Amino acid sequence: MQVLRTPQALNRRLEPHRNKKNSVGFVPTMGFLHEGHLSLVRRSKKENDITVVSIFINPLQFGPKEDLNRYPRNIKRDKSLLKKENTEFLFIPETRDVYAEDFQTTAKVGYLSGRLCGRSRPTHFQGVATVVLKFLNMIKPSSLYLGQKDYQQFRVIEKMVEDLNLAVHVKMHPIVREKDGLAMSSRNVYLNKKDRAQAPVLYQALKAAVRAVKTGERNTSRIKAGMRQVLKKAGTLRLDYLEIVDARNLAPVVTLDKNVRVVAALAGFFGPTRLIDNILIKA
Ligand code: PAJ
Repeated sequence: MQVLRTPQALNRRLEPHRNKKNSVGFVPTMGFLHEGHLSLVRRSKKENDITVVSIFINPLQFGPKEDLNRYPRNIKRDKSLLKKENTEFLFIPETRDVYAEDFQTTAKVGYLSGRLCGRSRPTHFQGVATVVLKFLNMIKPSSLYLGQKDYQQFRVIEKMVEDLNLAVHVKMHPIVREKDGLAMSSRNVYLNKKDRAQAPVLYQALKAAVRAVKTGERNTSRIKAGMRQVLKKAGTLRLDYLEIVDARNLAPVVTLDKNVRVVAALAGFFGPTRLIDNILIKA
């Protein structure tokens, strides 16, 4: 595995592959890797000639009161996990090599960025879209791999790629979960024992929504009421949002219709730790 630290060095190494028309898969991450990240790497390896993984804790996507400074990191472990997967290239840039001191241009995806997580994290998706656009320009991959875990992020980036005519295929990969159903996340290490034990309730609520739809329920208010009942089991959970939305435009849906794919999405706090989860539902 080659580890590159600047966009210039990475470009020099990738140029021969591009000239040979090798397909390049790109998996952006913020590190502290887990099986969710590694499942994206394996998929990219399978579908491409070479794979580039980036590890970059992007300051632009953190709000002023968020966890930028304490975001978990373990580069040594990440490197060894990626080596085991036979990753060809690991890109670990410094912040100053991504954002020059006088940096002033951003990418903003309108409506999609303001929905769901965008309500409590108003600048988050602008930060995500900007860094991903920069990395796409540096790497010029054939395919970009994103996890369903961050479904809104996937849609925001897919929309940016469409709106700006970017020449990359955006691929979404399913959520990898712990045995008890909790979606894997680098932030799960923040949870204390009690909250960790309660956290699987998020997935249980999503499964309750799927069950309700299977038994014929089409009214999203009633489905959400059922989900809230499940969430009540977790005494320390402070719900941020619980929504059932159109999977494409993330607009709220009142009545399910077999022609519209929806996603049930939620976010909640256990103490200071904010967790998200979602599930795709077809009526
Ligand atoms: P990060 O949270 O490190 O996630 C990197 C990628 O892994 C994202 O596409 C995310 O959706 C995916 N992922 C995380 N947990 C997953 C799980 N349990 N199952 C499947 N996929 C999972 O998302 C980011 O970083 C950043 O916003 C980034 C895109 C790198 C831009 O800075």
